[in-house]
Amino acid sequence: MQVLRAFNIFKPATCNQQLLTLKKHPIVIAIDGTSASGKSTNSKLVAKALGYVYVDTGAMYRTLGWYCLQKRVDIHDAKAVAAACRKWKTSFECVETKSHLHAVHLLVDGYFPDKEIRTAEVSAATSLIAAVPKVRDWMKKKQQECVQFGNLVMEGRDIGTNVFPDSNFKFYLDAKLEERSARRAADGIHENLAARDQRDSQRAAAPLMIALGAKVLDNSKMTSAETSAWLLAEIHKLMPVGK
Ligand code: DC
Repeated sequence: MQVLRAFNIFKPATCNQQLLTLKKHPIVIAIDGTSASGKSTNSKLVAKALGYVYVDTGAMYRTLGWYCLQKRVDIHDAKAVAAACRKWKTSFECVETKSHLHAVHLLVDGYFPDKEIRTAEVSAATSLIAAVPKVRDWMKKKQQECVQFGNLVMEGRDIGTNVFPDSNFKFYLDAKLEERSARRAADGIHENLAARDQRDSQRAAAPLMIALGAKVLDNSKMTSAETSAWLLAEIHKLMPVGK
């Protein structure tokens, strides 16, 4: 994996801060939706096709969930979780993966937790800590800072509603619960998605909902190639000429 440093040569795929001086208003494509609706796969495909930088905001929340478990912070105690979030030492790194995807990673104490944030235990902890308003404020600020890396494809639950509500490119992906559970099971993950959907959409702070003006797609019967082709066609229609 290659870590891209700032001030490289100008190129369309950007972990390149030089671009920022040229492009004052990076484009943010917001892709929200339910768990296992294909957000990650399709956001990556779209980011690669456009040469944009991919940001997985779920991974940022998962990283805090994992960190709290590591540090034995009581995940049911909102004050303790908020205090941990205030104090943890994080940094961003923009990398080019082996598959040539440019992606932003959130590091804790200089370490990027990858596979360890994908366990069922971390998933359950994450949906609790993601409901803490102070955590959401911190995440929103950090996610907005990601425009330093250039044009973005950002996936999450509240990107179109809360993090970048002024984006002209808002999408909401969904699929039937049985289909989403089957997709997770195919990855070897057996999770109560209905419970997670409920927690994500019923929390008071920035709940999962369809953003005003978002284009909605139920991809229950679609492949990821079809879903990403649909997204790219919609983005193309919305893109101002010359971008
Ligand atoms: O997309 P994911 O399954 O990796 O997300 C992990 C958890 O984080 C999930 O419970 C929803 C929450 N989340 C959130 O509340 N807001 C986001 N922008 C992204 C994820």
